[in-house]
Amino acid sequence: MGISIMVKDPHILGKESAKEDQTSWPLFEYNYPKSMKILIATEKPFAAAAVKAMEEIITAAGIEVVKLEKYTEKKQLLEAVAAVDGIIIRSDIVDAEVLDAAKNLKIVVRAGAGYDNIDLAAATAHNVVAMNTPGQNANAVAELVFGMLLFQCRNQFSGAAGTELMGKTLGLHAFGNVARNVARVAKGFGMEVYAYDPFLTKEQIESAGVKAVESIPELYSTCQYVSLHCPATKETIGSINYDLLKTMPKNACLINTARKEVVDEAGLMKLMEERADFKYIADVKPAAADDFVEKFGTRVFFTPKKSGAQTAEANSNAGIAAAKQSVGFLKEGIDRFKLN
Ligand code: 3PG
Repeated sequence: MGISIMVKDPHILGKESAKEDQTSWPLFEYNYPKSMKILIATEKPFAAAAVKAMEEIITAAGIEVVKLEKYTEKKQLLEAVAAVDGIIIRSDIVDAEVLDAAKNLKIVVRAGAGYDNIDLAAATAHNVVAMNTPGQNANAVAELVFGMLLFQCRNQFSGAAGTELMGKTLGLHAFGNVARNVARVAKGFGMEVYAYDPFLTKEQIESAGVKAVESIPELYSTCQYVSLHCPATKETIGSINYDLLKTMPKNACLINTARKEVVDEAGLMKLMEERADFKYIADVKPAAADDFVEKFGTRVFFTPKKSGAQTAEANSNAGIAAAKQSVGFLKEGIDRFKLN
């Protein structure tokens, strides 16, 4: 809806009549489009510099920025979305209730890779475009994989003799942007890298200098270390289970920077009870995190808060990409990275 203002317009009557009798100018209605609004809704805020850069991009396009950071209740989000045209989120949940409350909404951009926090079917039903920003925080997540791996291989820096990564086998479960960065770093450590991805050909995987395996069971039975990089979908949820994990070689270690839901926690717990050599490290805490720590002590490690994408660089990359994509869509209809 536009803002209508009534003005006297001399051009309607022509210059001569305007000069003669300005009071006779007719009223003319101009329709100025009302400023659009983009909400940055982040329970876990971006770094301040990233937010500043996002605000600059959005305001330069003549769009107003609204911010809801560190919110604690869904009702705050429901209120904040009421009059906005676009929303930029991180792991924040955008479900049918949020979409119902956002009457003007046209686009939601997940500043990040995984978009299981957006109800895509509901977005489509509400005529809202959903996007993500693939690759923008991939290096940050990959570096965290190695931060956690080194910490765990050195017995959480307890001083007890640990192990090295050089010469060890690393399996990448799915081979997207994060896994490609993990492969690059792993090669620097001298690891032997394998990957499986149902959506890529052997040639596509091997062109990145890693060995492609033909199946998920082959990946797990070959690799001492397996790093998860698959999204949480109906095919993958609970799929990393007891039967699969039990085939991993001696001194196995599972690394999860993807989503907690892909691991069958009960199966993992059973296996770790049976195999004292098995370790689990995750940036996505299992629901039963306390039980795992109580039972397995330093054989498990969970970041206190999800940290994979928490670098200044990743915040800026993903935030700026999300701001540009939101503006591009609202102003010019550009729908690259559209998910629905
Ligand atoms: C992603 O899917 O991009 C990562 O899980 C990062 O999530 P975050 O933005 O909540 O840190």
